[in-house]
Amino acid sequence: MVYCPTFEIEKKFMSTYKEFKKITTHVLHEMKLRGEKISMLTAYDYSMAKIFDAAKIDVLLVGDSASNVMHGHETTLPITLDEMISHAASVIRAINRALVVVDLPFGSYQGNSKEALVSAIRIMKEAEAHAVKLEGGQEVVESVKRILSAGIPVMGHLGLTPQSIYKFGTYEVRAKEEAEAEKLISDAILLEEAGCFALVLEKIPSKLAQIVSKTIKIPVIGIGAGPHVDGQVLVSHDMLGINKDFSPKFLRRYLNLYDEIKGAVEQYVADIKSCDFPNENEQY
Ligand code: KIV
Repeated sequence: MVYCPTFEIEKKFMSTYKEFKKITTHVLHEMKLRGEKISMLTAYDYSMAKIFDAAKIDVLLVGDSASNVMHGHETTLPITLDEMISHAASVIRAINRALVVVDLPFGSYQGNSKEALVSAIRIMKEAEAHAVKLEGGQEVVESVKRILSAGIPVMGHLGLTPQSIYKFGTYEVRAKEEAEAEKLISDAILLEEAGCFALVLEKIPSKLAQIVSKTIKIPVIGIGAGPHVDGQVLVSHDMLGINKDFSPKFLRRYLNLYDEIKGAVEQYVADIKSCDFPNENEQY
């Protein structure tokens, strides 16, 4: 059986095990300190967010992956700040417990740190979000500091950063070479020093993610970054099997909703065509 610190904590504190009623950035820090793994999932709308929150997910990320799975774009680049705010506001209305982090979309922070702050303020004010996330290391550190100076918590994102897909040219595993791995480690340290409360590492070697998670004190949440980090995040549409076209090695599918929903709709269509629906009990 795989060693899991979360189980060890539950055993150790059996009678005093603390269930967090509301997740804050401080709670995430406490979870890292005591070795409890952090669970994170993307959410983009009220109804799904309500279910995820009831299931006690720790962090909901209103990811710019909404560009792909909600808006049907090929990349995360086209989604606008207005669209992100609309998704975020509906997620916020659904939750009682989870910490809600919202992606700053492409083009809303890369210009300069003032623009980054204005975008982050719009997300906090109009969606009533709890924190923002942005992609990059040393290139964005000035923006990170400026956003933080307004009292807005920032989550970093390193490794595969999909907003730079046209620079990378591929969605392959990042930082396999020494130079890129070293830059990633120094970027992680920079982001921690700047004041980020957590860091997402996407699609990098497990060993490198382990080094980063051990090197910095803030929680490191992985997606395709192996088990030796402080938490895991997946895109909900992938994990629930709504989206069948995307099957990377790191993905665990918990449901096959595409088939389930298709089957239900096929049955509904057939019931209407055959005059089976509505029956006597389904009318006034
Ligand atoms: O937008 C997103 O869904 C993300 C996750 C992949 C971490 O940034």
